[in-house]
Amino acid sequence: MTSGPLHHPPSGRAATPSIQHPLLPLVGADQLIPCVDGSRRRAVELDQAASTQALPQVALRVAEMLPWYSSVHRGAGFRSRTSTAAYEAARRAVLGFAGRDPDGPDVAILCRNATEALNHLAYRLQLEPSDVIVTTTAEHHANLLPWGRVARRRYVDCDPHGRFSVADVENALDARERPALLTVTGASNVTGWLPPIDELIDIAHQRGIPVAVDAAQLAPHRPLPAEADFLAFSGHKLYAPFGSGALIGPRRTFETGDPFLAGGGAVDLVDLDEVIWSAPPDREEAGTPNVLGAVAMHAAIDALEGLGWDRIRAHEAALAPRLRRGLATIPGVTLLGPDPADSDTLAVAAFTVDGMHHGLVASRLSAEYGIAVRHGCFCAHPYVVRLLGLSDVAVAAYRAHVLSGDLRLVPGAVRASAGLGSSAGDVDALLVAVAELPPAGPLSPGPDNRGFLADHRSRGMGWGVARAWHLVFPGMTGR
Ligand SMILES: Cc1ncc(COP(=O)(O)O)c(C=O)c1O
Repeated sequence: MTSGPLHHPPSGRAATPSIQHPLLPLVGADQLIPCVDGSRRRAVELDQAASTQALPQVALRVAEMLPWYSSVHRGAGFRSRTSTAAYEAARRAVLGFAGRDPDGPDVAILCRNATEALNHLAYRLQLEPSDVIVTTTAEHHANLLPWGRVARRRYVDCDPHGRFSVADVENALDARERPALLTVTGASNVTGWLPPIDELIDIAHQRGIPVAVDAAQLAPHRPLPAEADFLAFSGHKLYAPFGSGALIGPRRTFETGDPFLAGGGAVDLVDLDEVIWSAPPDREEAGTPNVLGAVAMHAAIDALEGLGWDRIRAHEAALAPRLRRGLATIPGVTLLGPDPADSDTLAVAAFTVDGMHHGLVASRLSAEYGIAVRHGCFCAHPYVVRLLGLSDVAVAAYRAHVLSGDLRLVPGAVRASAGLGSSAGDVDALLVAVAELPPAGPLSPGPDNRGFLADHRSRGMGWGVARAWHLVFPGMTGR
């Protein structure tokens, strides 16, 4: 078995010029990582749907801001005023990025990530437990769980390829008990499928129903839907991994009622028995905000806008079929989700390999080839269950195991995902590696594997690559 990552395309598949190189190289692109044969190789990052490495422009802007960093809003010092200006400029950039007029009726609430934004929104809509929210079985848990706490959910179900139609959504919107909200993902983090978001917004609006879009996966790849009432996204998926995210919505939604977080910075006046909340956005941002995270997100937005959506889209539209079709044609590999001929998906592919646990596939890709992918259910359990076509009996069986504390039988898949920093060579390296995996067993540990294990242990990697390899080669652990 050959074990090295190949950086040339497999024969007969020439790279088109536009994707031979990353569109923008990301920080750490040349970083070498340890492999189990004792070698160190350039990391092939195909886990971009989880988190992206930073754009160099982002790292630079953060470094430039650091000497000027101080707490925002109430400080009179020069640094504090500089930080406040940078923070508020980031807010305006976020609104512009979302197709909003920064001086218009919408407000951007800067928060930690899309999960926080959606929890924030679910709390702030002041729903009654009897209210109905329409959502779909394709959602990330971040757009499922917050709604279950505050209202009843009516689901639009997916077909076996992980899609639903506009008519399916219409039916759910028109069913008895009028919904208070449609909340839907802008792009699936599992299959890369792009629901027809503009049409969905349109049909909901025709019925007077507001729409929230979970734009965590959409934001790095496509323009945000300007007509959505609410939007949530994360900086770390947008090449700005500094702990920031945004919730956007009409200012009036946040003008009344209790803010999501109570505390300093959100108030005009406090007495022992009284609080007068500030106007939004301050009202919604109690506590010291993440100024550097906001600056990072602003820099990423500037960089993406500088590149332009056409170039971003063209790069990823060339990578997506190469990745998805390439995987689908490997014997023993099953691609989940829409047909690979479906051109309108992100460069994201979830797949299974016959006879091999998803965890071992992902671990071997990393340990043997230096290729980073993700495995499991990708925080979308209901969706993955549907994509895998699991029966109720199978779901009940693994549920019983989970309840008894045994997570080993939880089903799942492997996910590869590309972005601005990815090239055709990265995709081809994955295709070659996956094609090589099934017939051969795991690569025998190289003579110098102690470095590999020491490296993994010293970075606190108790689970994942090192753990899977410990299972395969218990003797390697030394413990
Ligand atoms: C579609 C989607 N929604 C929401 C989230 C949650 O994002 P975060 O973990 O940044 O809060 C993710 C993250 O993977 C996602 O892919």
